[in-house]
Amino acid sequence: MSKLVVQGGVPLCGVLEVQGAKNSVLPIMAAALLADGDCIIEHCPDISDTDSAIEILGALGAFVTEKRESDGSRTVYINASNALGFEIPDDMMRKMRSSVMFLGAILSRRHRAIISFPGGCELGPRPIDLHISALKKMGADITEQHGYIDCECDRLYGTVIDLAFPSVGATENIMLAAVLADGETIINNAAKEPEIEDLQNFLNKMGAKICGAGSSRIKIKGVKALNGTRHRVIPDRIAAGTYLCAVAATRGNALIKNTEPRHLSSVLSFLTDCGCDIDILENDISVSCDELHAVRHIRTMPYPGFPTDMQAVCMALMTKAKGSSVFTETIFENRFKHVGELHRMGAKIRTDGRVAVVEGVKKLYGARVESTDLRGGAALVVAALSAEGTSVIENISHIERGYDNIEKALSSLGAKITRQQ
Ligand code: EPZ
Repeated sequence: MSKLVVQGGVPLCGVLEVQGAKNSVLPIMAAALLADGDCIIEHCPDISDTDSAIEILGALGAFVTEKRESDGSRTVYINASNALGFEIPDDMMRKMRSSVMFLGAILSRRHRAIISFPGGCELGPRPIDLHISALKKMGADITEQHGYIDCECDRLYGTVIDLAFPSVGATENIMLAAVLADGETIINNAAKEPEIEDLQNFLNKMGAKICGAGSSRIKIKGVKALNGTRHRVIPDRIAAGTYLCAVAATRGNALIKNTEPRHLSSVLSFLTDCGCDIDILENDISVSCDELHAVRHIRTMPYPGFPTDMQAVCMALMTKAKGSSVFTETIFENRFKHVGELHRMGAKIRTDGRVAVVEGVKKLYGARVESTDLRGGAALVVAALSAEGTSVIENISHIERGYDNIEKALSSLGAKITRQQ
């Protein structure tokens, strides 16, 4: 199992370009299943979730090839004309919980879909009741047995879906099921994340008729067919936020390029509030930090609120800030697993249910720690960069799911970080 070895205490300085968004690539690749023709998806990040999505497309019969670009990104070519499959193999479902994003697209195209229940993972139970109830309302017969979900329909019909929670995945699945349905679908209380807008833009380029993504009400008029198109994935706002925090944690000074600052406004406000100097220059964000002050309360919320995916990394930043911070995790039931590992580095954090209280300390110390999940692993990297001494971070396959060559990115800013088998 690969691990990262980090020599802490080096201020990060320089220029770094941000990868394409993991949470855009997955639903967009699922959407490519709906096209009669070639889809060319540019700026895909070089991460294992991209590999998993490509594997699923291949298992469904799509023709997929790719080109590695000079900037390290991947351009993926997909032709799903012969994708007659409708079942995602269990081992692929287990590799990536978000494979459930393919459900709406497969059902839309094949009128049949069989997936294993994604089940719980490191963040909590991860139910898909909102996905299932919406697809049933659109005309799907769905049975759940022996850990499998079997969906079937003659047609899918447009309807009004009122989401009990602005679920990102459920919003995307409904969009993918509605684009070829008979009639119009309206999603109320839709998720407003930028990745939803990116999916709408991709689908509309294919010939879909969608409006409202980015707001809580999305309207989808069903069309007869969709064509292939070319699309460049938006920048990854969570990767950008992670690198900004890494620079701040090491009291560095850097320019993070090719971002979409408006997608990060709640994180930029947080960084400013804790004492960072932030400057926005179109699509580039400069960050420098001399002294960190604790932000008193960070509460994760659906977009545009403070993103749950930044909670662990920002907590790592707060472990060495002056004063105490309170983190309230309102989105996932079990998203504090990184706390035990941060304790090993000398962090002072107390948790009670969905609340964590961080008391800033003067120093963190290098230690051997284990990644517990994608963003928890990134938090350990940020803490190790600011710690005194050497840290070894195990189980980095979690980190590789969402960060494109993280050690290369950080090394380009001067970090002393290497990967070891
Ligand atoms: C997406 O997950 C992202 N993943 C997550 O990013 C992100 O944390 C999350 O949205 C919230 O922003 C991808 O886009 C691939 P949800 P998703 O449905 O769609 C509950 C990362 O680190 N819920 O918005 O699974 C659910 O249990 C990952 O990049 C139901 O109860 O998130 C959770 O508590 C982690 N029933 C809350 O809603 C449902 O049917 C938010 O889930 C669906 C969700």
